Amino acid sequence: MDRSLRRGISLGGTLDGGGLALDDGWFDAIRDAGLDLVRLPVRWDSVAADRVDRAVEGGLARGLAVVLDVHHFEGTDAAFLALWERIAARYAGADPRLAFELRNEPHDPMTATAWNRLLRDALRVVRARHPERAVIAGPVARNVIAALPTLQLPDDPHLLATVHHYLPFRFTHQGAPWIAGADAWLGTSWGTAADRARIRADLATAAAWARGRRLFLGEFGTRDAAPMAARAAWTALVRAEAERLGMDWAYWDFATEFGAFDVASGSWRAPLLAALRG
Ligand code: BGC
Repeated sequence: MDRSLRRGISLGGTLDGGGLALDDGWFDAIRDAGLDLVRLPVRWDSVAADRVDRAVEGGLARGLAVVLDVHHFEGTDAAFLALWERIAARYAGADPRLAFELRNEPHDPMTATAWNRLLRDALRVVRARHPERAVIAGPVARNVIAALPTLQLPDDPHLLATVHHYLPFRFTHQGAPWIAGADAWLGTSWGTAADRARIRADLATAAAWARGRRLFLGEFGTRDAAPMAARAAWTALVRAEAERLGMDWAYWDFATEFGAFDVASGSWRAPLLAALRG
């Protein structure tokens, strides 16, 4: 990533083992919509590396910045470092608009102490071949803003911090089949003055922590079970606040049930796209 503010979207549900077939035309749709970054969540043990290469090239060929993210990694620390050695070798000399995100949402049982050590080691592996490439790392507890104070990043001018924002969770994840009890959240609305103030305060907390370090709001989004008007208002506010605070961002996501794009009709969901464009 270069120094300009990047606005993007994750291709969730594709290379992360979600079962959606990535269509090369999606990169055109993303570029034509005026976005300039695509985040590729990759479950490296379940996808052929040449599919990842094609996606990276698909984004770069359209002039998009590409964030390559290690998603759903559950192996040992040694396996994690070996994976980064492989990725770093594979993309040696790649376009500078390719960025590496070390690990999506590190979480329990990974402690902050263990993660701070591991991310430092992984960064060292990457830096051996990519001294100036943008590298991204976020805190434990699934990259939530509240965990930022536990994150210790090495002094490195090309290292960005990332956070994910899905609050209020009962609104964004209402009905999510993978969360026990989420059906009881169906019908949760959002949009009061207090709701809006809370988002501003949370993102301001992240910006205050960063103190000059670049921040990437790497995921934010809502499921389609929430009412569209509230989804669009939430998305517009999170996106606008992130930009006001100087953060790069990527909406979660393009084509799953969070998606701003309707694959069946081949068109953007207009209220969500408008919220992202501002
Ligand atoms: C996960 C997805 C999930 C999304 C929102 C992502 O990091 O990979 O499975 O839908 O977060 O919770």
